[in-house]
Amino acid sequence: MSQDTKTLLEWADRYLMTNYARAPLCLVRGEGARVWDTDGKEYLDFVGGIAVDALGHSHPKIVGAIREQATALLHVSNLYQIPSQIHLAKLLVEHSFADRAFFCNSGTEANEAAIKLARKHATDTGSSDRTDIITMRGAFHGRTMGALSATPNEKYQHGFHPLLPGFKYVPFGDLTAVERAMDGRTAAILVEPIQGEGGVNVAPDGYLAGLRRLCDHHGALLIFDEVQTGMGRTGRLWAHEHWGVAPDVMTLAKALASGIPIGAMVAKEFCARAIVPGSHGTTFGGNPFATTVGIATFTTMLEEKLPERAGRLGGYLMDRLRSIGLPAIKEVRGKGLLVGVDLDRPANAVVTACREQGLLVLTAGDAIVRMTPPLVVEEADVDRAVEIVRTVLTRSAP
Ligand SMILES: Cc1ncc(COP(=O)(O)O)c(C=O)c1O
Repeated sequence: MSQDTKTLLEWADRYLMTNYARAPLCLVRGEGARVWDTDGKEYLDFVGGIAVDALGHSHPKIVGAIREQATALLHVSNLYQIPSQIHLAKLLVEHSFADRAFFCNSGTEANEAAIKLARKHATDTGSSDRTDIITMRGAFHGRTMGALSATPNEKYQHGFHPLLPGFKYVPFGDLTAVERAMDGRTAAILVEPIQGEGGVNVAPDGYLAGLRRLCDHHGALLIFDEVQTGMGRTGRLWAHEHWGVAPDVMTLAKALASGIPIGAMVAKEFCARAIVPGSHGTTFGGNPFATTVGIATFTTMLEEKLPERAGRLGGYLMDRLRSIGLPAIKEVRGKGLLVGVDLDRPANAVVTACREQGLLVLTAGDAIVRMTPPLVVEEADVDRAVEIVRTVLTRSAP
């Protein structure tokens, strides 16, 4: 396998589908919050696989779990009971509002499952005309047709019509708009407690509680998409804990198995029972390999108190970013280590300049630089990252 950067980039150009606007670097190794490319250049990784690598790269507990399970059993089938799947479900249930878990392979699949559960629950409870799902402008729920239909963004939906019917879009944070949109046809509200892709938009206080009240009043399900915000990212195990509001259903993926593809939908018993044999499933979902790594991720996260650490280091990161004090920074917002820096200029050029200085960050919308570093990041890493951002913004023009 060639490791020569120039050849790899040429082959990428020739052989890969053109759906990603990728940066011209090939990452081959990682440790903690650092990664190295094919030229041996080191980067401070404040992307962390977009909120996936919560435990950092090459965490010994994860490496150990992978090694051990690789020689035991990778995959069987959901035709049989899978001990590690049962254990991971138990962990998720014991540490959340939920009673049951279903496993799939990605965030978008977790949201597909939640959309299907909402409609099936309505049908099972005698309201088969209750098919509408209300979602928020600025949301991102995934790329498959159901999740895409729940993602009201022309950038993602363009060219893929007709979308799935039955989705209503309202502005994020606007309870009155939700109230107006709700009626006897509403099956569920699907919302991210903090919109990640949409610009690190934090739910205003009272918003999630208001959605809870509206769902209870109208007999609709409240679904939180915690694909990005879950697993300690925001300073709590689940972001909704910041507001003390529990949903009926929650979707997870990203950090759940430290980069081994996995997704999950967890739900309360009263609606979970809508999913019966034959109504939903997946070949790979919850296989021995992914769920064993999921258990190692979850237990290590709790042992190392990573949610608390994310809260502490995220507060430090946001304070340091605010202290840069340049007019280029309009606002620094977020929770824990899900941080957005709202700029007076396009974020893309800033991301590129940071990369050239050895810092990986990403965008969220046109003018927001997003940071989702591993939760094991050190204070010194934060200092270095902030220094690079300061240097880049001082040099760049709006
Ligand atoms: C909130 C949210 N939901 C769903 C998804 C889709 O997840 P996946 O890319 O694993 O399908 C993402 C991905 O960024 C996300 O941030």
